Amino acid sequence: MSNHTLQEKVALVTGGSRGIGRAIALSLAEAGAKVIINYQGNEQAALETLNQIKEIGGVGEIYKADVSSAEEVNSMIKNIIDKYQSLDILVNNAGITRDTLIMRMKDEEWHQVIDTNLTGVFNCVRAVTRPMMKQRFGKIVNISSVVGINGNAGQINYSAAKAGVIGITKSAAKELASRGIMVNAVAPGYISTDMTENLGEKVTENIVSHIPLGRVGTPQDVAKMVLFLAGPNADYITGQVISVDGGMAM
Ligand SMILES: NC(=O)c1ccc[n+]([C@@H]2O[C@H](COP(=O)([O-])OP(=O)(O)OC[C@H]3O[C@@H](n4cnc5c(N)ncnc54)[C@H](OP(=O)(O)O)[C@@H]3O)[C@@H](O)[C@H]2O)c1
Repeated sequence: MSNHTLQEKVALVTGGSRGIGRAIALSLAEAGAKVIINYQGNEQAALETLNQIKEIGGVGEIYKADVSSAEEVNSMIKNIIDKYQSLDILVNNAGITRDTLIMRMKDEEWHQVIDTNLTGVFNCVRAVTRPMMKQRFGKIVNISSVVGINGNAGQINYSAAKAGVIGITKSAAKELASRGIMVNAVAPGYISTDMTENLGEKVTENIVSHIPLGRVGTPQDVAKMVLFLAGPNADYITGQVISVDGGMAM
């Protein structure tokens, strides 16, 4: 491992089993943090992330919890604090899509996305606030989306949740700044993961034609920004939304 800027730090990455969350978990571990890989159901994938962390000499564990459940989140945070005595970095990355046009959207598709992508972030932020205030240090990075800034046809639930994450980020940043807790958001554009793999070639081509940098993003593109915001080089940055989208939103 080359760079140990996060040595002794304890980090929780929600949805760390796959995609962007896995890349984030790996990069935090590579920087020396102990990483708790939260996941909802895919234990195999979570274990694969943990294996990759161990292969680079890092330390971590997997932790199953549904972020939309306040009860499960509270007990996850309590167990982490009991075990490690601190929680320095929280990355709210877990997210789902249930895309469809407004008039076809079922109540359940609306609620599932809001519960996971918005309430899930609130649940985690609320649960870490007390321990982070006590230690007078914390870095929270929320994964929003370009769609939370620009909106998107077929994603009214998802874009509402992701815009809400920006509201959470700014309110929490203002409320917690005096306690040494920094809260920022990353707004990825189109990133190649399980979430985007079924969009089809035509849709993908059309999206790429609107990306000034001319390519889709990788999970590592996002992880680099999260690592920066979680680390000491971002100590004077809070309440910001940083786009990692090849120039899509400007
Ligand atoms: N891909 C993109 O283009 C893109 C663009 C902008 C923003 N984002 C955002 O980036 C984040 C990661 O996206 P991704 O593309 O990496 O997605 P992904 O590959 O589909 O992975 C989703 C992750 O979230 C976890 N998860 C889902 N529901 C959960 C719940 N209720 N509790 C705990 N964990 C849960 C999954 O766990 P399991 O493995 O256990 O299912 C998995 O680890 C999401 O917030 C997404 O909205 C993605």
